[in-house]
Amino acid sequence: MKTIVIGVTGSIAAYKAADLTSQLVKLGYEVHVTMTPAACQFITPLTLQTLSRHNVVTDPFAITGEWRPGHIALADQADLLIVAPASANTIAALAHGFANNYLTEIALATRAPILLAPAMNGKMWEHPATKENTAKLSERGVHFVGPASGLLACGYEGVGRMSPVEDIVARAAQILA
Ligand SMILES: Cc1cc2nc3c(=O)[nH]c(=O)nc-3n(C[C@H](O)[C@H](O)[C@H](O)COP(=O)(O)O)c2cc1C
Repeated sequence: MKTIVIGVTGSIAAYKAADLTSQLVKLGYEVHVTMTPAACQFITPLTLQTLSRHNVVTDPFAITGEWRPGHIALADQADLLIVAPASANTIAALAHGFANNYLTEIALATRAPILLAPAMNGKMWEHPATKENTAKLSERGVHFVGPASGLLACGYEGVGRMSPVEDIVARAAQILA
């Protein structure tokens, strides 16, 4: 049974992480979810905890019964880290090696493959800073799925929608195969 860690970031598309979690659990993967503080403004940890059947950590400094820092344990356990939705901010943090929340700490500590499903306003996606960040991550071997184009939550049409959950699941299975 492969272990997938899903990182959820602060995007309107965060609610789709519930479906992603549910589909991966149904396929038999061991799924752990972590959320950035911004993600918790969009969907509750309780939803993802129930669907993933594991505690959802959002605070790296929370006291748990474990002596070992949780982000290191999860980073070592992961066969794949999926960040879905991946915000522009988190993509920038990953490109620059920041470890300023539980998700970015795991991303820096893991040696598992990383799959990003970006979701953002089209202008944010096309900004040279985001382009540089995604290029840097691709060079480093980070996988991307999407973003897709269509009507964005911000009201614009364009590229920036998170890829359909089925596409993320298929890509994850391909990477793990
Ligand atoms: C209503 C709303 C929707 C947002 N949607 C997105 C989004 O889809 N993609 C994105 O990159 N940022 C989005 N943001 C901005 C992020 O939440 C913000 O940059 C935040 O700092 C991201 O933090 P995180 O990467 O740690 O989760 C949105 C903000 C608001 C208020």
